[in-house]
Formats: sequence, structure tokens, C-alpha cells
Amino acid sequence: MKILIVGSGGREHAIAWRLSRDEENHELYCAPGNAGTAQIAVNVAISADDIATLALWAEEEKPDLVVVGPEAPLVKGLVDELEKLGIPSFGPVAAGALMEGSKRFAKEIMDAAGVPTGKAATFTDAAAAKDALKEYGLPVVIKADGLAAGKGVIVAETLDEACRAIDDMLVANKFGSAGAEVLIEEFLHGEECSILAMVDGENAVLLPSSQDHKRIFDGDKGPNTGGMGAYSPAPVISSDKLPLIKEKIIMPVVRELKKRGIVYRGILYAGLMVNDENSNPHGPMAKSGSTINVVEFNARFGDPETEAVLPRLGGSFARALLNAATGCLKESDIVVKDSCAATVIISSEGYPGDYEKGKKIEGLDEALEDATVFHCGTGFSGDDVITCGGRVLSVTGEGSTLREAVDKAYEAVGKISFDKMFYRKDIAHRAFDR
Ligand code: AMP
Ligand code: GLY
Repeated sequence: MKILIVGSGGREHAIAWRLSRDEENHELYCAPGNAGTAQIAVNVAISADDIATLALWAEEEKPDLVVVGPEAPLVKGLVDELEKLGIPSFGPVAAGALMEGSKRFAKEIMDAAGVPTGKAATFTDAAAAKDALKEYGLPVVIKADGLAAGKGVIVAETLDEACRAIDDMLVANKFGSAGAEVLIEEFLHGEECSILAMVDGENAVLLPSSQDHKRIFDGDKGPNTGGMGAYSPAPVISSDKLPLIKEKIIMPVVRELKKRGIVYRGILYAGLMVNDENSNPHGPMAKSGSTINVVEFNARFGDPETEAVLPRLGGSFARALLNAATGCLKESDIVVKDSCAATVIISSEGYPGDYEKGKKIEGLDEALEDATVFHCGTGFSGDDVITCGGRVLSVTGEGSTLREAVDKAYEAVGKISFDKMFYRKDIAHRAFDR
């Protein structure tokens, strides 16, 4: 198959890598890709959100399949354009990508579909929003409606903090149009988990569970990042709960969207909050033995969850993606290996704040003895591979146990070096602490 992968991060390198492991040979392209994808695909110098130029490329090159990595091109309608050209695309149309692009829309769908989620309301007026805070208690969560590069969610511990977040969004316009509407949401207690469902418009097949580490420092401290590591499976969701999550969360959303004329194809990523103490015994998920609420939906593969989930898939990945893109996905398209995987993100010191770029990376070949190295923010300077992003590499170890997978990942991380390199030392600690 001739396949274009859109994006330039660790997720896209992992998608290209997993496709390169299929038994069939594929002709892989990545737009724009990075120094890692260049080793297994042809990098095409088109930015991931340049919809017009990507569509032009697709019209000329006629790929059999386009796989869209990041949310921005989905929300901007890349798949709508490709559909007009008759090119099968893995990823939802813009109306479906609103499940990620508008938190208000996602809540509306969840409410209509009866999906368990935190109580919330949306506001455009700061005074009305502040007045509503008294109904929520503390902590309380303030969210910008639109896409804000992971920075639009504030978990406020005090009323002052909550009011400041509301003013930042509605008065100071700090988040631009993404913050023109705010959502106030009840704080949900528990442990988070990511469920990626592959959806073909009608049906869904769930990929294995995973958990990512959003904070920069060990012990889940410090500011939020795009993700500092991930592992799969996540013991907080045992595999026997997956059918219930499909029945109560994923399928109701797919059906509700379809009812509204939106055929959702691609990944529907449910960020779940699992409360093992069963604090809501009458809730819709009560028979699972724990309370499960949706914290967010994303319209794409998670990053870095993808780097821990895809190595666990057997079978033909291209066939599964194409079947989802063309509305004929089968349960048997997804083969899950009885293994564990863990990925450790190596970042530039200073991330998620300011950091330096252009540092030469050493030890990449040696690291491959123990693990798979996915490139997130890398480029070339002559023949050297250099850093060019906050998150630089995603190093994945696999094993028959999670401990083995984590040890292999850290063994490989120890062989890599560059000036001002940073990584967390405690990936998967929640699984080990249980
Ligand atoms: P979101 O972009 O909605 O996923 O929010 C980013 C992060 O904020 C989540 O991964 C959670 O860690 C946290 N968060 C969001 N909403 C809630 C909530 N209602 N209760 C507790 N934590 C939340
Ligand atoms: N790892 C979280 C995300 O992809 O949104």
C-alpha cells in the first residue's frame, strides 16, 4: 500500500514504524516527518496543517491511505478535503474532530448519549461563570472550550485561582478564540487511563489500555506537558472492563454522532478517570466494580500512548487502518500480543517552558540493542541527528512483564546523550505501586 502519514512527532514515527513491520511491504511517506521517519519513509516537506498543499500532494500522488496524526489538521478539515478526492483517510472529518476541538460539543454529545462524565456548564460571561462556581466546591476545573495546546485546563485549588482562570480566558483573552467560552467542571478523583478505540463509522474495536504521565517531574509533580512517558497495559483498567467501556462510552458516542449525520472514522480516544473506591455505586458504570468517568475525548492517537500501544499490536496494521477508514473494520483486524510495553520520553531541559535546540544526539544506534527509539523533535545538521523540540525522543521497551519493559527502556535511555537532556525516572510507578 502507498500510505501518507501526516505529522512530525513520536506518534507519527511509531505509526510509520508499525506499518513498516507489516508482512506486506508498504510505500511510506511522512509529511513533514522527522529524522526518525526519514529512515523508514520518504519525508515530504509539507507542514501538517497546510491542508491545501497536503490535498494537492494527495491528488497528484494518489495514496491508498492517509493516516492523520495530530488534531489540528483534523479540526481544519483535512479529511473532508481528502474525502472529496476519494482518498481513504484514517481520522475523522472536521465535524467529528470537534469531540476534541470543542469541550462544549463533547459534553453535549456525552449528555445526549448518556455517557458518564463530570457535571459541567459553559459560560461566555465572566460574572455568570464566577457566580456558578459556588455549585462546584473545590478543587474545580476550568477549561477553555477550544484547542489550547494542552494549556487550556486549570485545576483550581482556590476560588481566587478559579476566578483568575475565568478572567484569563473570558476577559484578558489569553487563549484567543479557544477561550471565548469556558467550561466549569466538577473535579473528578481517581487515576487516569487512556482508551484508544478504532472506529469505522458504525463499529469500534478497542486497542489495549495505556496510561501516560502528564507532569514534567517524578512523582507526577510540576507543570503539565504533552506527556513524559506511557505504558500498556494500564492495570487500573483490567482487560475484562474493556467490553463495558465499549458498550457504555465508545458506542453511544459513535451512534449519537451518526444520528447527527457525522460518520466518525479514526481513533476516538477516551481519557478516563477511574475511581476504584466505587464512590458512585449507582452510576452507569457501577457493575464494572469502579466508577469510570470521561475526562476528555481526543480525535486521534495519543502521544506518547501510541509509542507504547502500537508495539503490542500484531497482524496487518495497514489493513486495520484501511478497514476503519472505509467502514469495514472487524474485531479480528486488531491482534493484541500478550506483552507489555513502556515508553520513556527524553526531553530538552526546560521543557515545557523555554529550552535550547540544535544539540547533537549521541548513542542512538547503541540504544536500539534494548529498545525501539521513536523520534519526536529531531532534525538533521549534515549527517548529525540534532534536537529540535521540547520532547526529543520516545524510547520504548517491550517485555513479558511491565518491569522487564521498563528496565529495557531505561537501559536504552542510559545509552543516549545530548547536552541538557532530561527524562523522568519513574515511568509506570502507579502500576508498580498498586
Ligand atoms: P483535558 O485536556 O480535558 O484532558 O485535561 C487535561 C488534564 O487535566 C487531564 O488529563 C486531567 O489530569 C486534568 N483534568 C481535566 N478535567 C478534570 C476533572 N474534571 N477532574 C480532575 N482532573 C481533570
Ligand atoms: N497523551 C495525551 C494526549 O495525547 O492527548
